[in-house]
Amino acid sequence: MNLKVVVLPGDGVGPEVTEQAVHVLREVANIHGHNFQFVEHKIGGAAIAAAGSPWPAETLKACVAADAVLLGAVGSPEFDNLPPESRPEAGLLKLRQALGGFANLRPITTYPELSAASPLRSEIVSGANILFVRELLGGIYFGEPRGFVSQNGSSAAFNTMRYSAQEIDRVARVAFDAAMKRHCKVTSVDKANVLETSQLWRQTVSRVAGDYPSVKLEHLYVDAAAMHIITNPARFDVILTENLFGDILSDEASVICGSLGMLASATIGGDVDLYEPVHGSAPDIAGRGLANPLGAIASAAMLLRYTARMESEADDIDAAIAAVLAAGYRTPDIMGRTGGRTVSTKEMGQLVAEAVAEAADMRYAYHAV
Ligand code: NAD
Ligand code: IPM
Ligand code: MN
Repeated sequence: MNLKVVVLPGDGVGPEVTEQAVHVLREVANIHGHNFQFVEHKIGGAAIAAAGSPWPAETLKACVAADAVLLGAVGSPEFDNLPPESRPEAGLLKLRQALGGFANLRPITTYPELSAASPLRSEIVSGANILFVRELLGGIYFGEPRGFVSQNGSSAAFNTMRYSAQEIDRVARVAFDAAMKRHCKVTSVDKANVLETSQLWRQTVSRVAGDYPSVKLEHLYVDAAAMHIITNPARFDVILTENLFGDILSDEASVICGSLGMLASATIGGDVDLYEPVHGSAPDIAGRGLANPLGAIASAAMLLRYTARMESEADDIDAAIAAVLAAGYRTPDIMGRTGGRTVSTKEMGQLVAEAVAEAADMRYAYHAV
């Protein structure tokens, strides 16, 4: 099978982790005789430095013509004082709009070997498995009007949180469809006790639930949800929420699996699917081989699962990640009190690539029996 992937390494640890994700995808292609083509383009701070814009026309052209886009991360302290529309992050938001994916899937997977990497007690994190479905193209991120004004001689700023019923309906269906393949439970998170957008959210999600009688729906306010996620993560199956709440709650939930570096994401529903780890450019550890590439590698597995429909190949990557963790290999962020062996970003990528070959062999051996 042919697959054309545009790779956007971006800034900070982005290039380090995407390099390893591509390495693992190449290994999958070798094993199965697939033809994966990778073309790199610039985005974010790297694009500002090279082309004067966080979202160059060339990058847009390549992305809309791709089968899928794999992104590292954007953002750099160097550009933190630029206005919102010129910052590296604006490149990512433009990319998301251009590709059109409105449902951002962020799985929280726990590995027993990493329970001691979480500051939470192991009996709390044990067995937790949550899928966040974060609305990605609406809400306060994109609502108009927005801006800075001067008010009574002082400066003021404003943003608009806005949702249409149609935007809520389409992402809610993604969450209910996902729940049907999992444990048939959706928790919808909002702030309907204060916000109009959340009242519309709750009404619309409740209406969509009528089409999914086998799925149990509960509603939580976002403040209480933040507490439940950290005190009893195992009570959740699918969490459906709007853009800003999903951004915040998914970083919080990363604590359950030991590190933000573990989290992967897929953005679906548009013209071209987008895959990116949940973490940012991590300037505090960039360029030193300290970054955990497993979130990026797991995003590559999602790419094979959702865009290429290569279930077995995706399973092999997930099995390889589990095997490498079970064998005790750790980047520093997931070492905690797990007592494993520290490896660099590159070593971790190489270990997963080798384990992918073993996972594929085991699968063939199993089928041959
Ligand atoms: P961050 O996610 O970059 O880092 C938060 C913390 O997690 C840091 O301590 C970092 O070292 C650690 N961390 C992140 N990824 C890691 C990995 N793969 N392995 C090990 N540790 C990891 O968030 P931040 O520091 O708030 O933001 C830094 C920059 O990244 C900002 O410019 C921000 O806008 C940007 N950002 C980009 C994205 C994205 O591109 N999708 C996401 C979040 C933040
Ligand atoms: C994420 C990031 C982005 C977001 C930023 C960098 C625009 O935090 O993907 O979680 O807020 O969506
Ligand atoms: Mn975020």
